[in-house]
Amino acid sequence: WPALIAALVLGYACGAIPFGLILTKFAGLGDVRAIGSGNIGATNVLRTGRKGLAAATLLCDALKGTLPVLAAAHWGEGPALAAGLGAFLGHLFPVWLGFKGGKGVATFIGVLLALSPLTLLAFAAIWLGLAFALKYSSLAALAASAATPLVLWALGHGAVASLFLVLAALLWWKHAPNIRRLAAGTEGRIGQKG
Ligand code: G3P
Repeated sequence: WPALIAALVLGYACGAIPFGLILTKFAGLGDVRAIGSGNIGATNVLRTGRKGLAAATLLCDALKGTLPVLAAAHWGEGPALAAGLGAFLGHLFPVWLGFKGGKGVATFIGVLLALSPLTLLAFAAIWLGLAFALKYSSLAALAASAATPLVLWALGHGAVASLFLVLAALLWWKHAPNIRRLAAGTEGRIGQKG
């Protein structure tokens, strides 16, 4: 238990760092929450027109999931999974932003990189295929995240699959406004500025 709780706290501490907000503020672009979807993630940072900043946000928001999981893996699989859960919850509900955080796609990717790189390849194939074909970042992430627990189960990673079932459910819940916009045909496409 102490290792599980320490891993959860370590993950949360990393996950709660709002890189999208920090990077855009340092770049002199103001508050990214005031543009586009209002989200702090890479997709919304891209709506500032700054591709490099969006890529840096994606990388940092992913690594804050990868690094605590790899660190906690030294204590065993349970702590590694707890660190992944903590990082994801930290990104979604950061104490520094009044618990109003991001939607979790980059951190989902980062945790998956640490726990099953092979499954991340499947995620990337689905995400890239749909994103290039339809130009909706949210739809690509919704489909790829839903497929993730299934791929993990198929590969025999039962415990990791259970974690990702929870993460995918939270990711879908945080995308409720995107799902409503997709259904209404008003979701912004990749490349459109905010
Ligand atoms: O990572 C979030 C993405 O799926 C959607 O972002 O800004 O369009 O709500 P956004």
